[in-house]
Amino acid sequence: MSDSRNDHFALTIEPDHHFVSVRAGESLLEAALRAGLSLPRSCRNGTCRAYLCKLVVGEVRYRVEWPGLTAEEKADGWILPCVALPQSDVTIDQPARSDAPVAPKPASSRGF
Ligand code: FES
Repeated sequence: MSDSRNDHFALTIEPDHHFVSVRAGESLLEAALRAGLSLPRSCRNGTCRAYLCKLVVGEVRYRVEWPGLTAEEKADGWILPCVALPQSDVTIDQPARSDAPVAPKPASSRGF
C-alpha cells in the first residue's frame, strides 16, 4: 500500500511475486532495476517494445506522449514498464513471450 504522502507506490511483479517500492517520478522498470530485478529492456523510451506486460491492478500514466502501444493493446491492459509511472499501487504480470502481442509492422511503401 502507498504511504500517506503518495511519494511511493508498491509494485508487485507476477508471476514471481516480487515486491518493489516505486519512488515518485520513477518508471516501473527503473524501480525494478534499482531493486536488483533484471527485466527485459532496450530503448527505455517506449519505442522498441522489448518488454510488454499486463497491468493487472492499478493505474499508470506515461512519461512519453505516444508509448509504442496500439489503442487496442492499451484497452487490453498491455503496458510498457520502461515509461509507465504508477498512479496507485500496481500489479503487473509478465506473460509468456508467445502470449504478448506482436509489434505492428511498419508500413512499407516499396513492398520489399
Ligand atoms: S525498453 Fe524499449 S519500449 Fe521499453
